[in-house]
Parts: sequence; structure tokens; C-alpha cells
Amino acid sequence: NKLSVIGVPMDLGQNRRGVDMGPSAIRYAGVIERLERLKYDVQDLGDIEISRPNRKEVELEDKLRNLKEVTDGNEKLARAVAEVVEKDRFPLVLGGDHSIAIGTIAGVANHYDNLGVIWYDAHGDLNSSETSPTGNIHGMPLAVNLGIGHERLTNILEYQPKIKPENVIIIGARSLDEGERELIKEKGITVYTMHEIDRIGMSEVIDQSIQYFNGRVDGVHLSLDLDGLDPSDAPGVGTPVIGGLSYRESHLAMEMLAEADIITSAEFVEVNPILDEKNKTATIAVGLMASLFGEKLK
Ligand code: ARG
Ligand code: MN
Ligand code: MN
Ligand code: MN
Repeated sequence: NKLSVIGVPMDLGQNRRGVDMGPSAIRYAGVIERLERLKYDVQDLGDIEISRPNRKEVELEDKLRNLKEVTDGNEKLARAVAEVVEKDRFPLVLGGDHSIAIGTIAGVANHYDNLGVIWYDAHGDLNSSETSPTGNIHGMPLAVNLGIGHERLTNILEYQPKIKPENVIIIGARSLDEGERELIKEKGITVYTMHEIDRIGMSEVIDQSIQYFNGRVDGVHLSLDLDGLDPSDAPGVGTPVIGGLSYRESHLAMEMLAEADIITSAEFVEVNPILDEKNKTATIAVGLMASLFGEKLK
């Protein structure tokens, strides 16, 4: 029950400004106080410094937007996260766009032989420069963690791959690009799309996930993209997709994960206060974190 919170004001993995203010919005919504009330020893490490690109138009390098700044930011994040894990504290990372999962998972994964990952997201984030429709690195972090993509991204902290495809479970997918679908098939990645969730229910999805991870992994990272939720519940995101997970389903998922006590690191990403309605999305993010950390169990 020792937690370290790290903010990552990163908005360079996509092209809508404002998501760099996600960590401020989440802190403003009371994350630290809320977790302290659950009797955690909470340490707020502040924000990772992200360098702003100093240029007018050249932004694509090898078809990747802001490659240098995204790489540098993730290197710093990876080192900070690794230090937290080494101190036996739980790293809780606040985004920032989803490109930061490259650094978070790099920092976590070398402390495990078989890190499981729950990717809670409308998207697969399994693109690379060859398949990406946008060049946005926030659409690539899961691929990068599997060792697929630009060497500068895949090799952060000088080891790769970070995770194995059989240890990944995607929940909430409803917007997958062609190349992502192919990769999912090729690698045999488990995906609970909205279709499956509608059919069997979130409770069954999480039960199956817990069972699947049991005995197979030695830690589980939760990478929660707020756009996994329906835009009516989480409007403050840069790439909203209709037909998403409800607030209730998401709470249930967090509560079940808390009960099973399997999550060993987490990040909450893509909160964009500029696109939000009165900080609704950051507030929901904090509520989900509280449930993940056992609010209902206390
Ligand atoms: N698939 C699209 C792309 O590659 C959207 C990715 C959205 N990712 C996210 N983390 N919100 O650009
Ligand atoms: Mn280490
Ligand atoms: Mn997404
Ligand atoms: Mn994502």
C-alpha cells in the first residue's frame, strides 16, 4: 500500500493540444486526497518534464510525429517508473496521451518475467509507421511494447520486447485499423470488443481475464485510456468513439480487479481538459482509480 504518482504532460503523440494538461486536471479532481483517504502512503512525484518541439513545420521523422520528443519523454518516464518499482511502490501514472504507455511499461516490465497487460481502450494502439493512418505515436504504444515499431521506441531502456502477445488482453475495442486487425490475428492477442462485452457482460469479461492471467503472469499492468468509456461519460478525450463502455461497467471492472488484487501498476491516459465538460472526464478517472484501489472494499 505504497503508491507513487507520476504525471506526464505529454501531448506530442497525437495532434490535439490540451491532453498535456491531463495530469493537472486529474490532480485538481482530487486524486491524491482520494487515495490518501484509502489509507495509502501516497507520494506525488510531480510531472516528468517534456521538451516542446522547437520547430515550425518539420514534425514527421520516419513517418512518426514528434519522434524525438516522444522518445525523450518516454526515456525519462521509464527511468522514473523503474525507480518506483525498485522501491516496491505501486506506480500510478497520469497522462498525457497514450504514447506514454511506452515509457510506463518499459519501466515496469523488466522487473517481471511475464508481465500481463490489460489494455482498456476503444483502440488497439497496435499501429506502426507502416500501418498508421495518422503518424500519431499514441496509436502505436501496444505494438511498441511488443517490440514492433521504430527502434528508438522499442528499445527504450535497452531491452525488448517488453511484453509477450499472449499476456495482453484488450478490453473495449471498437475502432481497429486494418493493420491492427492483422496483427491481432497474427499474434493471437485476446480482444474483448464491444460486441463480446455486450454479449457476455463486463463481469464475465473480467472474470475470464483474471482466470486467464492466474498462474501465467507475475504482475498485471492496467493501461486505461479514457476513450474506452463512452464519450457521453468521458467527453474530454481527443479521439472519442461512440458505443463505448459505461461508467458503471468501468467501475465494476475496477472493483473486480481490486477484489482479485492482481494489478501491480497502472496508468490513466488521454484526459483532455480542453475538450472536457467541467472536468467531468478527470473526475471519472479519479473515481475509477479509487475503485481500482479498493474504495468499495474499505
Ligand atoms: N488508430 C488511430 C491511429 O493510429 C487512433 C489511435 C488512438 N489512440 C489513442 N491512444 N487514443 O491514429
Ligand atoms: Mn530496474
Ligand atoms: Mn483510445
Ligand atoms: Mn489508447
